[in-house]
Amino acid sequence: MDYREAVPADDDAIAALTTAAFGQPEEAELVAALARDGDVELSLVAVEGETVVGHILYSDLGVVVDGRPVRAVALAPVSVVPGRQGRGIGAALVRASLGLLRDRGIEAVVVLGHARYYPRFGFSAALAAKLEAPFAGDAFMALELRPGALAGHVGAVHYARAFGL
Ligand SMILES: CC(C)(COP(=O)(O)OP(=O)(O)OC[C@H]1O[C@@H](n2cnc3c(N)ncnc32)[C@H](O)[C@@H]1OP(=O)(O)O)[C@@H](O)C(=O)NCCC(=O)NCCS
Repeated sequence: MDYREAVPADDDAIAALTTAAFGQPEEAELVAALARDGDVELSLVAVEGETVVGHILYSDLGVVVDGRPVRAVALAPVSVVPGRQGRGIGAALVRASLGLLRDRGIEAVVVLGHARYYPRFGFSAALAAKLEAPFAGDAFMALELRPGALAGHVGAVHYARAFGL
């Protein structure tokens, strides 16, 4: 398995993969809408030979903590082709992409996802709990790529338009 940034020629493969992974078209439509709106910060594919077997996308997220803008992104969606799940492709994509985001100066990442999956990468529901967001609970998690990036009392979060929140 290798990974690289997605290019427009990957669009159909990403749409098919995302629809297959989630068993419904909504997440693939979200990927397309985020791209249309110019809100994609990073889109990475996992490939085996010529075949796209995984995909992860991060979109721009408006975060202000105590009046201080934070360079942040939302992780969503991440997909691995059903026949290849559970073999570390998702974890490799998450780890590789977080490194790229850190290199680009992104300070924080939020995710709404499986509460047992994301903590292994350092995501924390406690860190996200103080953010004023459309989500709450164990599934809403945050990660600081720059230590202290979310330090403060009140943080407001605004998702890209395609989320429809
Ligand atoms: C979630 C997903 C991206 C993980 O990728 P993957 O390559 O299958 O996962 P990895 O091999 O890196 O990691 C396997 C771990 O993920 C966990 N996992 C996979 N799907 C999960 C789910 N739906 N809920 C909770 N945990 C899940 C497995 O239990 C396993 O945990 P373990 O390491 O403690 O045994 C992939 O399974 C997928 O595409 N699922 C369908 C779409 C989806 O739910 N996307 C994520 C939304 S937050």
